[in-house]
Amino acid sequence: MCRIEFCLLVFSISIIDASTLNGAQPSSRNNELKQFPSDFLFGAATSSYQIEGAWNEGGKGWSMWDHLVRTAPEHIADNTTGDVASNSYYFYKRDVQILKELGVNIYRFSISWPRILPYGRPDYVNREGVDYYNNLINELLANDITPFVTMYHWELPQNLNERGGWLTRDTDDENIIDWFGDYARVLYREFGDRVKHWLTINEPYIHCNHGYGYANHAPRRSSPGEGYYECGRNILLAHARAYHIYKEEFSQGGQVGIVLSCDWAMPSTDSEADAQAVLDYFDFHFGIYMDPIFSPQGNQPQSLIDRIANMSAAQGYSESRLRPFTEEQIDYMRGTSDFLALNHYTSYIVYKNESVNGMYVVPSHNDDAQIGMYRDPSWLQSISPWLYGYPAGLHNLLVYIKNKYNSPTIYITENGFSSNPGLIDNDRVTYYRGYLNAVLDALDDGVDVRGYCAWSLMDNFEWAAGFTVRFGLYQVDMNDPERPRTPRKSALVYKEIIRSRVIDPEYNPDPYETDGSYVIKTSCVFVITLALLNIVL
Ligand code: BGC
Repeated sequence: MCRIEFCLLVFSISIIDASTLNGAQPSSRNNELKQFPSDFLFGAATSSYQIEGAWNEGGKGWSMWDHLVRTAPEHIADNTTGDVASNSYYFYKRDVQILKELGVNIYRFSISWPRILPYGRPDYVNREGVDYYNNLINELLANDITPFVTMYHWELPQNLNERGGWLTRDTDDENIIDWFGDYARVLYREFGDRVKHWLTINEPYIHCNHGYGYANHAPRRSSPGEGYYECGRNILLAHARAYHIYKEEFSQGGQVGIVLSCDWAMPSTDSEADAQAVLDYFDFHFGIYMDPIFSPQGNQPQSLIDRIANMSAAQGYSESRLRPFTEEQIDYMRGTSDFLALNHYTSYIVYKNESVNGMYVVPSHNDDAQIGMYRDPSWLQSISPWLYGYPAGLHNLLVYIKNKYNSPTIYITENGFSSNPGLIDNDRVTYYRGYLNAVLDALDDGVDVRGYCAWSLMDNFEWAAGFTVRFGLYQVDMNDPERPRTPRKSALVYKEIIRSRVIDPEYNPDPYETDGSYVIKTSCVFVITLALLNIVL
């Protein structure tokens, strides 16, 4: 028996050579330097809470992250907050300068809901917040950089969180679907004359898993078998609401899409059970959000619906923990994305066998998925335990999406690697070269991938990891009130790729040879030290 997904998966895997499955890091299929098409868009990405700072300035209200870092500071690895972060609220012009320096075509940033609507609802719009984003957008456009704007990157106004947030029900008089739609309407009205690429909601899987499943992120709810699914259900409906509002109430000629994360998964062995584990991986991490919007029939994968219903019944629930959508809701969500904004970081090897039983909390979506996951230790390891570089995974994933979902237009809106502070980031360089080569391979295979954003433009507040890990192309000195941004080696390599449209493996720039502020500051410190020594001696 071969389900259609399984056939597509086998097809996707069959186009990968054996070294790929063994975990090798192929750069490109042949030795000649392949070129990105002239209309391929390069960019860099950030999100508001992670970079903006000014947490209680300019009329901004509290988000649930502002609440978390004040009420449970011990929950952030280094007890830090995003109160100031890279201080982009004040230094946004410098952000545009470094984007210009890189030569990018697009900048993906997000809008903080409580900076625009301090209490979450549109009866009070904070004009200072609107001015801030107007200034940023205008500065970008003046520098020929196209804004890709995320409406929601996890900063729910605390006020709405206290009223139930992503766990309200669509049948409630007051619910998050209406709230998000009303917020989206304000954004289109204020910025839609200039913003033509809207990204509704960032990564339902990660947001619901960490925020409502396992309590790692705000609002730290712990309900991996129920709240997790409820959150995802609401996000799908809220996204669809924002899409319909744009199409029905505005004539601004832009596009609206959702941001989904998906890593690649390959089977541990060639057994049928492990092939099933791969199907389950994609159903539970991706299909659950992707199918309702991008599949021709709509709705979540039937296999997933059945699995959760059966497990819920066996656990004594009177109805499935995954509440079914009505026919009307299925129609409402289907086709509501003009493009797929895809975030991708890493890959897994997955398996399904008896040892998976008892591995996870019951009930939980991980227990429902019934799979175990691990990595090949030979893959490029970052300093984040979850992030290993395996570039072929991106190529495989892009081909899988093309084949399974009728070749949607894709923008890669996040891809990146974490490291310690420091300007010489050779592993990040290796990662970016590998993954950009994977994009070139996917283009060769006819995937409609139109753009790529590196995560991240600069160092930022990495959620529960605080500032203990760095993702920036540009290093930010978090101890300096001026928050200088200094290009790492990876920034110089990326810049050259954007300029030349090829990935030259020999290019080996030295970040200390730029005229960046780091060099100037270091020289100043050196001169002052010499002068002091002179006085002392
Ligand atoms: C998120 C970013 C985060 C990145 C690295 C993505 O899932 O969208 O906000 O910084 O992963 O962890």
